[in-house]
Amino acid sequence: MSLDPEKAVLPSRQQLFDFHGVSMIPIFTDNWENVQNFQARPDDILIATYPKAGTTWVSQILDLLYFGQTERQKTIPIFERVPFLEIAVPSLVSGKDLADKLTTTPRLIKTHFPVQFVPKSFWEQNCKIIYVARNAKDNIVSFFHFDRMNMAHPDPGDWSNYIHRFMEGKMVFGSWYDHVNGWWKKKQTYSNIHYMFYEDMIEDTEREIDKLCSFLSLSHSAEEKKMIAGGVQFDNMKKNEMTNYSTFSILDFKISPFMRKGKVGDWKNHFTVAQNEVFDEDYKKKMKDPTLQFRTEI
Ligand code: PPS
Repeated sequence: MSLDPEKAVLPSRQQLFDFHGVSMIPIFTDNWENVQNFQARPDDILIATYPKAGTTWVSQILDLLYFGQTERQKTIPIFERVPFLEIAVPSLVSGKDLADKLTTTPRLIKTHFPVQFVPKSFWEQNCKIIYVARNAKDNIVSFFHFDRMNMAHPDPGDWSNYIHRFMEGKMVFGSWYDHVNGWWKKKQTYSNIHYMFYEDMIEDTEREIDKLCSFLSLSHSAEEKKMIAGGVQFDNMKKNEMTNYSTFSILDFKISPFMRKGKVGDWKNHFTVAQNEVFDEDYKKKMKDPTLQFRTEI
């Protein structure tokens, strides 16, 4: 097994299938037993998101908060510093094995699982979990461009069909609506979840880092937090090879960059007026909980 993503031997684009009621692809289910048996430690920190909600951004922030600007930051790509628990690409070391091999304390671990798929040891160990959510419209746009450039994901097809697929939950990791609601509900009974929003991070990164520090009981100085907030701004992360995924071979950067726009409201450049109306109507039916509110512009 190689650690080098350049050596990945990929199947061609994978097909969605129903996995315990959630649309998935094999690279995220093939290692299911091992992933479910993952032994979390009490100080592990799980970063959970629906794909394209700001995972990499928050991962980089946490890595800097815990380990600072060291050689590790300059030489190890984010997907190795913060392993993606459920990923199992043939010929590559699995995310679970990478997580097992982490020597840091705490271990920072990423997942896109809906809440019901999270291995039970995270709950048993009362691990701290950071959930990042992003408004549906920008999330789908980001996912569309990612599916175009990610050669393991199903072909997104054209945009108007893609919107319908999104509304039906026929996406890798299933329904956005179920995901954000499932995790929101879990927060009511499991107090170690910090639920945050991409839009808030865009609005005021420093304020959100402050909240993260409170949740994690970290006591960084105002100056350190300011430095981190500056270092993780979009343009910096886009040009940083250790955060922009440019070394990950399953992504075709000729089609689209991983760090694409990093904005709130880019959906307006994609949705037609008619598509927006249909989407809003459907959204109202699915998002009934008045306590969970998203901002599609700031
Ligand atoms: S993944 O593949 O699910 O882990 O992707 P994820 O990191 O969750 O989401 C990628 C989107 O987040 C944007 N991004 C950022 N926005 C603002 N500031 C910073 N620093 C930042 N880092 C990543 C990234 O550009 C993707 O969004 P879009 O809208 O496609 O640009």
